[in-house]
Amino acid sequence: MISLGINYSTMHDSSACIARDGQVLFAVAEERLSRVKHDARFPVLAIRACLDFVGVPPSDLDFVCQSWPMPGTWLRHDLKCMVMGSLPVSPAGVFQLVRKYASAKSQQGGRKPFVQNFGDTRADFRFVNHHLAHAISAYAYSGFKDSAVLVIDGRGAWEATSLWHGRDGHLEHKWTIPWPNSLGLFYAQFTDFLGFTPYSDEWKVMGLAPYGVPGINLGEFLIPDDKPYQAASRLLISRQSSPLAAIESRLGPQRIPESELTASHKNLAFAVQDSCEVAMLSLARVAAEQTGTRSLCLAGGVALNSKANGRILTSGTVDRIFVQPAAGDDGACLGAVLEPHFGSGGGLPLHTMRDAYLGPASSDAEIETALRTYKIRATHLPDPAATAAELLAAGKILGWFQGRMEFGPRALGGRSILADPRDPEMTAKVNNAVKFRESWRPFAPSVLAECAADYIESATDSPFMILTAQVRREKRQVIPAVTHVDGSTRPQTVERDVNPLYWRLISEFGRRTGVPVVMNTSFNLRGEPIVNSPADAIRTFFSSGMDALVIGGFLVEK
Ligand SMILES: [Fe+2]
Repeated sequence: MISLGINYSTMHDSSACIARDGQVLFAVAEERLSRVKHDARFPVLAIRACLDFVGVPPSDLDFVCQSWPMPGTWLRHDLKCMVMGSLPVSPAGVFQLVRKYASAKSQQGGRKPFVQNFGDTRADFRFVNHHLAHAISAYAYSGFKDSAVLVIDGRGAWEATSLWHGRDGHLEHKWTIPWPNSLGLFYAQFTDFLGFTPYSDEWKVMGLAPYGVPGINLGEFLIPDDKPYQAASRLLISRQSSPLAAIESRLGPQRIPESELTASHKNLAFAVQDSCEVAMLSLARVAAEQTGTRSLCLAGGVALNSKANGRILTSGTVDRIFVQPAAGDDGACLGAVLEPHFGSGGGLPLHTMRDAYLGPASSDAEIETALRTYKIRATHLPDPAATAAELLAAGKILGWFQGRMEFGPRALGGRSILADPRDPEMTAKVNNAVKFRESWRPFAPSVLAECAADYIESATDSPFMILTAQVRREKRQVIPAVTHVDGSTRPQTVERDVNPLYWRLISEFGRRTGVPVVMNTSFNLRGEPIVNSPADAIRTFFSSGMDALVIGGFLVEK
């Protein structure tokens, strides 16, 4: 049985994946191929890449499953919210809603663009509720048989937060908190207020938070509640002179993007992050109580909040946590693709996801062709891992392009920029020369799994850089470039059998320096998607201050 999973909500992060008999073989976000960040268009390129990978014509697909319901679902919900008063009513708002519905309806929820681009197919089209798709994307890949499953995002079609109980391949729906009572909405509106892009730059608020101090009370916006949270949507969605008018009337004017960050901005970031953590802890506690399990799976965009995830784990509320590495909407296709197993009443196929290398790869022959096309002199390397380690130990900033691309927002040693974490100046060097991003944002380390406990307090498996933990006090001066101002870090633990080449690079670096840890950030420039092809990597390398590029079996130096 061949099943294609698609995320296409027209809002952001379109993607596709393909599975044979319940085993996902390939997944990629449209943005990586189209080079348009958060691309929301119908994922034609991603679907084509899926079909090419398995060598199956579109006509032979058994299922095409979208992680988004047919348009009427969300239209009915939003109209009801307007009638009930949880959404402000305005002629412009109603017009916008109806226009969006008409557009989605004309596309038959995505069936029409599929047939237009790929021709007729015998496939059965399924439109899967968004939170169900997220829930499957967490539970079915967690390796847990019995687990609570929390989905927390900005909004689904109509959902904001939902709780499920996964048992022996089945998912029981417990409850859903409907949008706009949304933790993601709360976080996004304050991200906007702080001068960053909502539903995209929440990372920046999370990174800024440790520079602030407690003091600002946001209880009016996110009401402490035993429900377990209550977002004041009427204050968060205002249709007055500015969408953020209610926030501005209480906290002063919105920060102008790129302007100076004052102490009050930092204190507000602290309050936003802390409120979110408290709400997520409360959700985790309720989830554990209501399912009677000590395992927790998380998905939905808010589950990318690694700080909150780490706090849940260290709180002792649960014993184990699995966060789908593609917890945002791109990853919802991983759930949709398995829906036919669920929908037929059978059990979901359960796997333990140990890596996220589900994307395209380039052979050395393809890389060589790209290098020749751009007339770039390259050296063939007998041992890319050893050479890369040597360069890193000498203080060089490296582009590292190897194997299959990661699915999800984190680079995990497939499409990474690497540097020496021992150099206290390295954060500034990489920020200024390569990432061109805000100086206060932290970088993360990749550490050999077997050495993680030497560096990280309460070290746990963290293969996806999605849990924040504390660096051991005595090691903070050893790896200053990946230790945040509050002593925290967001580690990737690298296991030998999962990524042997990357493991060996870190191991070789450790042999030379005594520190089996490298600084790892995604291979992209500010505002661009992570590189996918050799051409993307070469262009990014020469557009930045990176010193060397190790691409497949080749070394390019400036
Ligand atoms: Fe979502």
